[in-house]
Amino acid sequence: MDLTGKEIVLGVTGGIAAYKSAEIVSRLRHLGAHVHVIMTRNATEFVQPLTFQTLSAQEVVTDTFRAPEYWNVEHVALAKLADLFVIAPATANILAKMASGIADDMLSTTVLATKAPVLVAPAMNTGMWTAAATQANTEVLKNRGIHFIGPESGMLACGDEGAGRMSEPAAIVERIGQLLCAKTDYQGLRVLITAGATRERLDPVRYLTNDSSGKMGFALAEAARDRGAEVTLVKGNTTVPVPAGVRILPMETAVDLLEIMRKEAPEHSVVIQAAAVSDYRPASVSATKLKKRKGEPLVLTLEENPDVAKAVGEMKKPHQTLVGFAAETDSVTENAAEKLNKKNLDLIVANDVTKPGAGFGTDTNIATLISRESREDLPMMTKRQLADVILDRILSVR
Ligand code: PMT
Repeated sequence: MDLTGKEIVLGVTGGIAAYKSAEIVSRLRHLGAHVHVIMTRNATEFVQPLTFQTLSAQEVVTDTFRAPEYWNVEHVALAKLADLFVIAPATANILAKMASGIADDMLSTTVLATKAPVLVAPAMNTGMWTAAATQANTEVLKNRGIHFIGPESGMLACGDEGAGRMSEPAAIVERIGQLLCAKTDYQGLRVLITAGATRERLDPVRYLTNDSSGKMGFALAEAARDRGAEVTLVKGNTTVPVPAGVRILPMETAVDLLEIMRKEAPEHSVVIQAAAVSDYRPASVSATKLKKRKGEPLVLTLEENPDVAKAVGEMKKPHQTLVGFAAETDSVTENAAEKLNKKNLDLIVANDVTKPGAGFGTDTNIATLISRESREDLPMMTKRQLADVILDRILSVR
């Protein structure tokens, strides 16, 4: 990654993770970026401005002993200079100020004024992160196009365990690189992505489903959006927040998905089907909760669901590129290659869901990309990295 000459403004707010931001500055400087640090008054209680001044080789802007008139000069200069504005760590307080447009110190004033993309890396106690107010502020900011990384889950400085830890500096710098070096090679393309798990009802309270979290499909949607595509995301049951800036169409069953895809697929040039779709559904759905059978076994009859990807393959138009996934536990590449042909796909992403770090629910995946001409085994990488590799390969098979 080369960030030579990029101007990055780094806001540091008051949290124990502030010390980790020193590593962000140092990594960015190694990549050639100019880093301008703004610290809130509380941040200076955790780390000395001199640390950031030494690492960034720039004067650090703080509010300490300075009058508000001074902000008016400095905030405009830094707001205009920034190619990217990063706030790490971002406290609940700065998120709340940003969501409400409050500008009462140098950092909140500057971030309000900037036209540059903004990335925030929240870090706080789990209770504060999950509080309704913080979640609502996060939603507002995401809908305005503010980029988020983290927070991660784990042991927090306060001794609690849960979500609230700032993402690691290396991951934050990687995201900064993605935002600053964002390709625009999907501009003008409409991309349709499926994600998450189908649910096939048995009775009003029970259903057949699987462990798909939606992470793989969401990573694809985010990557395509960041590369300029107009994205439609068809989502089943998922366990992570939906990406901002994409059109969302909810579905529950394979039959719902088929109906949506019949309508939407012809309108899109690239179709990527990462949803985990049930091959079977209960033959009948009970209108009332099924009762216990007093020692007798309950036998369920399942009937076959439509193969949605196959139906999309049968409707394929010449300008379209169709991509499927194959979730396998054995004979991975053989089974995937068979699905590539059967479903009339241009590319299939095979993942062995029994491998640690691959498949359902994980942040990483291990995939083999199979097209009609080639086969490529990829190492373990984050789902976001894999999404970008898949998007690169799609462009080369088109
Ligand atoms: O969501 P995550 O937690 O991040 O997990 C990611 C994932 C494991 C779900 C993803 O990487 C993945 O492998 N998705 C495909 C799951 C799946 O249904 O695989 P399959 O081999 O059963 O299906 C092959 C292809 O046909 C898939 O593109 C699937 O969407 C599609 N299909 C399957 C069955 C069916 N009835 N209709 C379909 O369209």
